[in-house]
Amino acid sequence: MIRTVRTVAELRAHLAGWRDQGHRIALVPTMGNLHAGHHSLIELAKQNADKVVASVFVNPTQFGPSEDFSRYPRTPEADAEGLAQAGCDLLFLPSVETMYPLGAESAVRIRVPGVADVLEGAHRPGHFDGVATAVARLFNMVHPDVAIFGRKDYQQLQVIRHMTKDLAFAIDIVPGPTVREPDGLAMSSRNQYLSEDERRVAVEIIRNLRTLRDQTALGLPPAGLEQEAVERLTAAGFDVDYVAIRRADLSVPDGGSEPGLLGLVAARLGRTRLIDNLDFDGVDAR
Ligand code: PAF
Repeated sequence: MIRTVRTVAELRAHLAGWRDQGHRIALVPTMGNLHAGHHSLIELAKQNADKVVASVFVNPTQFGPSEDFSRYPRTPEADAEGLAQAGCDLLFLPSVETMYPLGAESAVRIRVPGVADVLEGAHRPGHFDGVATAVARLFNMVHPDVAIFGRKDYQQLQVIRHMTKDLAFAIDIVPGPTVREPDGLAMSSRNQYLSEDERRVAVEIIRNLRTLRDQTALGLPPAGLEQEAVERLTAAGFDVDYVAIRRADLSVPDGGSEPGLLGLVAARLGRTRLIDNLDFDGVDAR
């Protein structure tokens, strides 16, 4: 059984004991429905700290009005068990009232300009404001020395880095490598929405990312490659939001090959929206 706290007072009391003992503390923020990808983040947290706190909070402010907030999978018992097995020391399970004491509508909001406005930000307006708003609160509640974010949500990682630097949070942001199914599909809580047929097709996302990587290495211009990948994914049954070849800071490359590029995809299969990305240099932890 993992020790679980629900209020900020309980959380702080627990953390104060650890701090008195000189422990370095890691935070792994999650929305629950934990899978092997999350468990790998806990293991990475353990390598970077003495004590690990995981938060589970399905954050309403990062879902758009037509998105899956109410049907987002909630599996609290399995989450607690998985966290205990992965070696997590404390589970923080705040209510909406704990996270947003004045109500979500009256919440002080964090807006990260630039990096939050493109790609995911352009297709999910307000999404990253909600993410940053929740994560800033978690940072203030936990005051971790280090916080772990999966590289699968690459743009989210960049948004959090921008916020952490700009607001002078004294927290090391450590990226966790993407964990994949045997066929290459990136692990995600949303994969369970897929029908059997959709699940078979879903692997086309990583296949196309690998094709983009290989074609880019040949020096072919990114814009044409992106368009061809959109066409292939559409033919496979996806409704594509974007296929993008970008620099690590998500700026658009001039054309041709250069070090440090990555490919990013967001596409819908039926009602399920999937995202993935691939670092073309094979660096999974930048
Ligand atoms: O990646 C997630 O699960 C969420 O966006 C996060 C970082 C926990 C913020 O709600």
